[in-house]
Amino acid sequence: MNVDDLRLRLSQAGQEHLLQFWDELDEAQQAELYAELHAMDFEELNVFFRKATEGFNLSSQQEKVDARMEPVPRGVLGSATRDQDQLQAWESEGLFQISQSKVAVLLLAGGQGTRLGVAYPKGMYDVGLPSHKTLFQIQAERILKLQQLAEERCGRPCTIPWYIMTSGRTMEPTQEFFARHAHFGLRRENVIFFQQGMLPAMSFDGKIILEDKNKVSMAPDGNGGLYRALAAQRLVEDMERRGVRSVHVYCVDNILVKVADPRFIGFCTQKGADCGAKVVEKTNPTEPVGVVCRVDGVFQVVEYSEISLATAQRRGPDGRLLFSAGNIANHFFTVPFLRDVVNVHEPQLRHHVAQKKVPCVDSQGRVVKPEKPNGIKMEKFVFDIFQFAKKFVVYEVLREDEFSPLKNADSQNGKDNPTTARHALMSLHHCWVLNAGGHFVDENGSRLPAIPRAAASGQSEAVTAEVSDNLKDANDVPIQCEISPLVSYGGEGLESHVAGREFHAPLIIDERGVHELVKNGL
Ligand code: UD1
Repeated sequence: MNVDDLRLRLSQAGQEHLLQFWDELDEAQQAELYAELHAMDFEELNVFFRKATEGFNLSSQQEKVDARMEPVPRGVLGSATRDQDQLQAWESEGLFQISQSKVAVLLLAGGQGTRLGVAYPKGMYDVGLPSHKTLFQIQAERILKLQQLAEERCGRPCTIPWYIMTSGRTMEPTQEFFARHAHFGLRRENVIFFQQGMLPAMSFDGKIILEDKNKVSMAPDGNGGLYRALAAQRLVEDMERRGVRSVHVYCVDNILVKVADPRFIGFCTQKGADCGAKVVEKTNPTEPVGVVCRVDGVFQVVEYSEISLATAQRRGPDGRLLFSAGNIANHFFTVPFLRDVVNVHEPQLRHHVAQKKVPCVDSQGRVVKPEKPNGIKMEKFVFDIFQFAKKFVVYEVLREDEFSPLKNADSQNGKDNPTTARHALMSLHHCWVLNAGGHFVDENGSRLPAIPRAAASGQSEAVTAEVSDNLKDANDVPIQCEISPLVSYGGEGLESHVAGREFHAPLIIDERGVHELVKNGL
């Protein structure tokens, strides 16, 4: 340990307070703090802070962005509902790309799950489905099924590599969980874990915050930390080595996520796009989703925290929200685009600033939990690179088919929690059964009612149940129906299991068959 050298570096960067409790620490604590500080580049951190906070003033920044926002133009939009005549072609193209092993998926799983309030990675969460599958398992099984569908369609074996970004806190438990479950049937070498960076919390005047006498307050550097991590771990090269041409990047928390969705991949590929975003129509101005839009003519996502209520509430002549392209954090990037981002553009990305109540030590070394924000977290966002795209496209899908994020605990509020996630999945699977010609009956043998809804993406027939629209909050209980992704990726292939049959819920369809849990006494 060269403490004098460290002290000099710290004082040159105006961060000498980090050693203020040095003499009170025992040897092990000193070693811990030394190791943490030794690895930090204080000059770089000061630059990040300066750039991120330059002219930072929340309200004036909002006005500036709001005035310059324009909705996504029709020309770049594809729609799973309005462009039904194209869906087959997009799907075929996507499956072809997958069958050539040219498509990878990349999961952003470095978040801390603060709102959900669990101490383990969110992907390990069991929302209480009849099968008790976790989010990781559901995603893994969708990958397995899609590989199989692409192989059947194109007659050759293929691989969809799965890159999983973790952070300092989620890496070990995530890897351990996958190992314990034998990678859910995927080949070990095709599941690639990597770790994003961390940044210290800073006070409003740019001082790094200590959370304890011997510990800096650290947090992951945002899901846009992806690009620095890809560079540091030479993962674009890994993709190139595997022959991957495009990547579907998505967030861990959406139980309905269609990993490597062939239609989305096919749509982006046929449009010749290097970058694309999947969206759902935002219908409630205060829904916490970012909106895809243009600012000064450049595509970007304006986060829910960055848009004023007045702008979020603006409506077009058709009565719909003007900024309605709700970002569901499903992105398409070509590998050459990622290479340019990593090699050229990443350093230009400025961190976003979030004001936080950061637990810290006071001048006496006592741990304090502040009641109002006392510092900032700096984060890059995964979509910050849209601005560098040569051709950017947007693909709109139905919320009830593809988006039900797990953000909050059941106790917190009625939205985006384990119950709504579980219900959304079971409602969708109920629709799939009906579309494949099956029916549900009640205890008296009477058929449960089904009503038509607008033709959903993925369904040729518009006959579905009276479900999703009526199940917007956690108190409504859907028919319990769960179909394993190993049986069906998007509602296909169910006729042989259900056509012309009547079922009592709870119903599970998995690779071992069709199970009515009550009848079977399960
Ligand atoms: C995110 C989107 C928002 C979108 C919403 C939809 C971003 C920045 N915002 O918001 O536009 O409308 O999802 O549900 O993408 N993560 C990391 N590392 C980090 C922080 C987060 O990997 O340092 C991962 C999380 O594990 C998660 C994802 O990024 O998978 C999204 O993070 P979260 O904080 O939940 O984003 P939201 O604010 O909900």
